[in-house]
Amino acid sequence: MSKFEKSRWADSEFSQGYRDDADIFLPFRGQFIEVSKSLYGHFISQNPEAKVLDLGCGDGLFVQELSKSFKPSKVILVDGSAEMLGAAQKRLSGQDGYYFIQASFQQLFADNTLNESFDFIYSSLAIHHLPFDEKKKLYAYIYERLSPGGWFIHYDVVLPPSEKLEKWYLSFWREWITGHPSEERREQLLGIPDQYKGNLDNMPDTLGSQLEVLKDVGFCNVDCFYKYGIFSLFGGSK
Ligand SMILES: C[S@@+](CC[C@H](N)C(=O)[O-])C[C@H]1O[C@@H](n2cnc3c(N)ncnc32)[C@H](O)[C@@H]1O
Repeated sequence: MSKFEKSRWADSEFSQGYRDDADIFLPFRGQFIEVSKSLYGHFISQNPEAKVLDLGCGDGLFVQELSKSFKPSKVILVDGSAEMLGAAQKRLSGQDGYYFIQASFQQLFADNTLNESFDFIYSSLAIHHLPFDEKKKLYAYIYERLSPGGWFIHYDVVLPPSEKLEKWYLSFWREWITGHPSEERREQLLGIPDQYKGNLDNMPDTLGSQLEVLKDVGFCNVDCFYKYGIFSLFGGSK
């Protein structure tokens, strides 16, 4: 089993760096969130009792954005990093119905921390840190915790199906970063796609293989809802 404590997310400087720069180096981050919100609005928002789970919530941006338009009855935010969870708590302070749990996905498998069901489970840019067999385990875990009719939405980086495509997607990502207005920051940030590729903490699998796993564990309506190079939003319903 992989260990969260050995990943770079356990390092506070690294997680602070992500929070400072994510909006600049993640292409169309806002649009990925908007598509997720649209799905929530279409399928979930009519239920005033809806319960939401965010796995690997980071600093809570998604839940904050979701809450601007919708009022789920309960939201649980889970992250392995105390620092990230602290930032999420700060961002969402003063609002009722939010619960914060510091746990790695590996810990969730091992105990019964989350013994309730959810109508909407969201995860962004966290699950690609798990090897394929643990992704499969997590997808099955998520399916078990969804209420009938519930949805799982996953926004993450995926492995392109060929080296040719990967080269293009990484240069496509650099092109997006090149649009950053400050020349100095642009130069620093342009190294991120290569750092991403070279870092063994990142274990992306292809979109196709993950869609197959979702179908195998029982999900319906499995599809990719939005994509930009290696960045993909996909999922399905129970
Ligand atoms: C790139 S950040 C994404 C944060 C947030 N979801 C977002 O989109 O901004 C990845 C997050 O996943 C968390 N994470 C990574 N591996 C994890 C694991 N095995 N268990 C729990 N959390 C994990 C990290 O602590 C970090 O907060």
